[in-house]
Amino acid sequence: MSAHYSSVANANNRGESPYHNSAHNESTGFIAPAAPTKKRTSPWIKWGLPLLILALIIIGAVLGGVLGSRAAKHKSVSSAAESSRSADAAASSAASAKAQIGRFAQATNSEFMVPIYPSTTNAAFSKPTFAPSSNANNGQGNTFPKDSFTPSNPSPLNVRPDRPRLFAPQYKWDALPRLIASDPYLKSWNETIFGNVTAYAALPPVKYNMDGASGILDNSREVKQRVKAFAYAYRLTKDKTYSDLAWREIQHAMSSDFGPAEDKWNTGHFLDTAEMSAAFGIAYDWLNDVLTDDQKGQMRDALIKYGLGPGAAAYTDPNATYAWWKNGIKGNWNCVCNSGLTVAALAILGDDTTGNSQTILQNSLDNAKANCIAAVSTDGTWAETQNYWYFGTMGHAEMASALITATGSDYGLLNSNQDFKKTGDFHLYGYGATSLFNYGDHGPNKFTSTANVVMFYASQYNLPTYMLFQRDRADAAEPWSMFWYDPSVAGAYWADAPLDKVFEDPLDSWVSMRSSFTDINALYVAMKAGNNSGDAHQNHNDLDAGDFVIDALGTRWAGELGSGDYLAPDYFVGANQDSARWQYYRKMTEGQNTILVNKKNQLVTGTTTVIKHESGGAKQSGGTTVYSPPNGQEGAAYWIADLTGAYDSADASSVHRGVRVLNGRKQVLIQDEVATTTGFQWRMHTNATVSIDGNTATLSLDGKEMKVVLVEPQGVSWSRTDAVRMSGTPPAPDQPNPGVSVLIAEVGQGTQRVQVLFNPTWDDGTQLKTPPSVALDGWSLTSHD
Ligand SMILES: *[C@@H]1O[C@H](CO)[C@@H](O)[C@H](O)[C@H]1NC(C)=O
Ligand SMILES: *[C@@H]1O[C@H](CO)[C@@H](O)[C@H](O)[C@H]1NC(C)=O
Ligand SMILES: *[C@@H]1O[C@H](CO)[C@@H](O)[C@H](O)[C@H]1NC(C)=O
Ligand SMILES: *[C@@H]1O[C@H](CO)[C@@H](O)[C@H](O)[C@H]1NC(C)=O
Ligand SMILES: *[C@@H]1O[C@H](CO)[C@@H](O)[C@H](O)[C@H]1NC(C)=O
Repeated sequence: MSAHYSSVANANNRGESPYHNSAHNESTGFIAPAAPTKKRTSPWIKWGLPLLILALIIIGAVLGGVLGSRAAKHKSVSSAAESSRSADAAASSAASAKAQIGRFAQATNSEFMVPIYPSTTNAAFSKPTFAPSSNANNGQGNTFPKDSFTPSNPSPLNVRPDRPRLFAPQYKWDALPRLIASDPYLKSWNETIFGNVTAYAALPPVKYNMDGASGILDNSREVKQRVKAFAYAYRLTKDKTYSDLAWREIQHAMSSDFGPAEDKWNTGHFLDTAEMSAAFGIAYDWLNDVLTDDQKGQMRDALIKYGLGPGAAAYTDPNATYAWWKNGIKGNWNCVCNSGLTVAALAILGDDTTGNSQTILQNSLDNAKANCIAAVSTDGTWAETQNYWYFGTMGHAEMASALITATGSDYGLLNSNQDFKKTGDFHLYGYGATSLFNYGDHGPNKFTSTANVVMFYASQYNLPTYMLFQRDRADAAEPWSMFWYDPSVAGAYWADAPLDKVFEDPLDSWVSMRSSFTDINALYVAMKAGNNSGDAHQNHNDLDAGDFVIDALGTRWAGELGSGDYLAPDYFVGANQDSARWQYYRKMTEGQNTILVNKKNQLVTGTTTVIKHESGGAKQSGGTTVYSPPNGQEGAAYWIADLTGAYDSADASSVHRGVRVLNGRKQVLIQDEVATTTGFQWRMHTNATVSIDGNTATLSLDGKEMKVVLVEPQGVSWSRTDAVRMSGTPPAPDQPNPGVSVLIAEVGQGTQRVQVLFNPTWDDGTQLKTPPSVALDGWSLTSHD
């Protein structure tokens, strides 16, 4: 705990524990990674297979568009269009197609329970669009009516007259039962939420559990999760059983059983305070008609004392050192803290006689606009990591959504950073066939930090693709989606979606390439270069320029080690080359899937450039889930980075790394051209069992196989080690990485070329190729045909 608090005082701690996919061992303090997810046959969820079979039969019969040529597919699309005489007819036929398709099953054998798309053709899988029926506004249409509260001069201090004011005004609740009845997604999410309510109801209230790394953040988020669900169930049913359950959580979180008398919500780790304040704000607003004046008074008193009082002081009192997050922090801390305070302040505005709500609303918006929204760079990338994107964007989206519903404007939170709207792409392309491109720290448990923000962004930015993507995901079922989802959305997110995307901002330049969006067995490769500097990434990054992940055959072959122990001494101190953070294996260059020169870390000040990238522009087809990328030029894509700046120039004069998909995206080639005076290692971490025969390593995992061939330099053989450090002494022991192997090629000094070919053993008889050897300089879309 002392390490934690001294780091906070240094304003360096982004103290969150890495419990995601991890188990905390109390006795050692180590965070052990979860065992690789057990493979099981994917059970179809209720809305899956039966309805799909039905849909296939009906649609096949009606449209004649069964798994055929492109021509046949286009024909079925246009015949569907011809049969629709008006926009409403189109909307209603989209609705019935949607009802027939139902929801897709989710894989239980991928880390993120990715959706399982059956092999099927369906005219409804057309380009993403919103198709509201013309009677949408009279309470009869296929989506929520428009809000009638549209102040001409919005002010954050001027809230709508009716409640609820946050996230879901009454007109949305009024429309919901009808929309649930006609939309299979809303129907299934509603059922899941009620199921979760039953499960939460059987549990005692969330217990106060001060954890040295993340304070009571887990507790706050869990209270918020339960309160959201209870309050949702109350508003839909008006059954006081549910409001009583919410009150039980609320009462406990302000009782003498919960934390010390003066600082229950842990202002020293202000995320905890902000999330608990949001939980209270949601309950105060959504249950406003059932809570007694006395209950509301108790809640306001607790909010002021433990949340909004310290929150207002955060902006006005220079001595409030716990408010370091307000000064130039472009990351999740700023978003979550400003957001939680804003949500709670909006909830009690008008009832709060202390002035704290006003103070917060007069400061939080500008502060979030100066900091939080700047965490999205010019290409949409979140400056922290893929996992921290969840926390930061949820803070941002809750703040913007609460302000819009309560006061009629987002005050520029959505568009002051003109690139913010691209952040859904960061998520969509960072989401591989089985899991995320999860470089850097992974963060604590997510609880309420879902990816459903992209549904909100989809509506706000008119980007229906995000809505369609997210509605199929495992984390979609929670109360926010019931209101952020627009059931008039139609189409398939993958229809005409480019398979590749390059993110070019030098801060985090990276590339994403895949063979399909609808096949869990697809090939996916992502690689990053960018800036190593700790500060710009809020100290959640690794020294990992050149790092990559690869998915194929439903399995991750090259993967990440994730967070270290957030409690380890100076884990978040990374300003300098010799800073403690860079001594922990999982953060060191040794612990990454990249080139390691002279067994030394990459430079913290290291910068890289992308030399060249091209994509043949392959897009997945609409109308079907069945897709194979074209061979040749159209299906080709590559990306080449100059990583030289990340290495000590005394050791390496040039380090170039290229990655490309080959052979209709059945294979991956990673090629390095490296000039060193010291020699280097090519390294990759894998959960697979590795068996080596000279220059061929056979990786076995989850009953599948991948051969990794060291094509060049000739005469070099693979070796394998456990994922343990070779050099250096960290301030505390590393976490073990059980089951992880490092595949290594030891390459000598001078100018060397390394070519590593990834050959999955496809079970469809795909013939693998050995491509010609072409210098990176000579790479083109056709150079490897
Ligand atoms: C939501 O789900 C619950 C539980 O299945 C169900 O009782 C309720 O009727 C559903 N609400 C609506 C509006 O359909
Ligand atoms: C909610 O219910 C679903 C379906 O049973 C389950 O998968 C999920 O884990 C539950 N969520 C929580 C937070 O308990
Ligand atoms: C901040 O702390 C200093 C030193 O304790 C004190 O003199 C000053 O009055 C404090 N400022 C405020 C605004 O409380
Ligand atoms: C090993 O599997 C776990 C669980 O799926 C995953 O979190 C981790 O990233 C994998 N490690 C590697 C090196 O692939
Ligand atoms: C990238 O790193 C360089 C060198 O440390 C630094 O000058 C530059 O400001 C960094 N870029 C960003 C966006 O942080």
